[in-house]
Amino acid sequence: MTIIGIDKMSFFSPHQYIDMVELANARGEEPNKYLIGIGQTEQAVIPSTQDVVTMAANAADEMLTASDRKKITMILFATESGIDNSKSGAVYLQRLLGINPYARTIELKQACYAGTFALMQARDYVTLHPDEKVLVVASDIARYGLQTSGEVTQGGGAVAMLVAANPMIAEINQDSQFLSRDIMDFWRPVYADTARVDGKYSSNVYQDFFKKVWTRYKSKTGRDIADFKALAFHLPFTKMGLKALRDVLPEATDEQQVVLMDEFEASRVYNKRIGNLYTGSLYLSLYSLLDNSQSLKAGDRIGMFSYGSGAEGEFYSLTLRPHFSAGLVTGQIDTLLANRQYVTIADYEKIFNNQLKGAADREFDFKGDPAKFVLHGLKNERRQYICN
Ligand code: CAA
Repeated sequence: MTIIGIDKMSFFSPHQYIDMVELANARGEEPNKYLIGIGQTEQAVIPSTQDVVTMAANAADEMLTASDRKKITMILFATESGIDNSKSGAVYLQRLLGINPYARTIELKQACYAGTFALMQARDYVTLHPDEKVLVVASDIARYGLQTSGEVTQGGGAVAMLVAANPMIAEINQDSQFLSRDIMDFWRPVYADTARVDGKYSSNVYQDFFKKVWTRYKSKTGRDIADFKALAFHLPFTKMGLKALRDVLPEATDEQQVVLMDEFEASRVYNKRIGNLYTGSLYLSLYSLLDNSQSLKAGDRIGMFSYGSGAEGEFYSLTLRPHFSAGLVTGQIDTLLANRQYVTIADYEKIFNNQLKGAADREFDFKGDPAKFVLHGLKNERRQYICN
């Protein structure tokens, strides 16, 4: 049988960041609450010249060859920070990236879960059409508001994944277990540009969903923790994944517990410095694991826990392919992080309040933004995207 899975992955986040010790000091909190209690050290700052479309385009552009662009027949754009209530971000992406005009384009939403759904749809589609490729992007901006308890868990960025037959990175196994329940732990009404959240409740539901889908996974597949080399989690903040991992660690031998903890540390290196990117967070964590683990090898099974408030949870597994590192853009995130510019808390607050809002024409000065794709502004209620 043909193997279907993630062929390539690429990541983008804007060129500015704040330091979590400085944010803690500015908010009158003990720095270790942010560094250890929340598990974040830096946070991406999203300038007015970037939105979910430009971030997705910047991520995908770095991994796509001319041949990929011709072979892609579907673009699945997962986001909960959409820029339009009607038109999908995927259509903009098709034009910006020069993708085959005879491709389907669609946007998907279910909080931080939509990227996982998109990936499963892509796998099923390519299973039926193994000569075609599907582009999945998970692009989001986490916004809770200045001086809110969620502020330390903001961030933003995009992960792009190419799903294809005989993939370089990993096979997406047909073993998903999922669960949905109508609850109000986190949501964003259409009139709001910041999330509404019941923080403690959302964390409790996350852990509850993880335990439920994990238990169901074990009973449905007959596998147990010994079958996994690593577990990767949706990381709204990196301590959240640690809490979930600790819930199942006692099921492992002492020796395997050490391995799972080491792999978890590898899986949160990048998320600690980017922050939450909602539906992309699990996939940034996967990228971080693949890039930073010292011991992963072909054939290893990685457990993936996806959680989207509202709420939906899914647990599934990936099996690593022989040359999985070759599917990542070499040195991409190290370079991105090394080139980021530090901004003060005062400047971040100004940037936070300078996002595109309302219907009035606006132009942004995009000279300071080194990204290839930028948002130039709004003209006649149409977003103006520029290829820098
Ligand atoms: N040193 C070390 N640790 C410290 C500390 C110190 N000096 N001071 C406090 N801490 C620890 C606390 O003990 C606590 O740890 P535990 O959770 O292990 O008990 C941790 O720091 C956080 O402290 P608080 O609970 O007091 O923090 P808070 O009330 O200010 O809010 C939060 C934390 C609820 C996560 C808040 O940031 C928030 O609402 N974030 C947004 C919601 C969110 O991310 N929810 C996650 C699940 S929902 C989801 O996953 C979807 C999504 O992407 C949003």
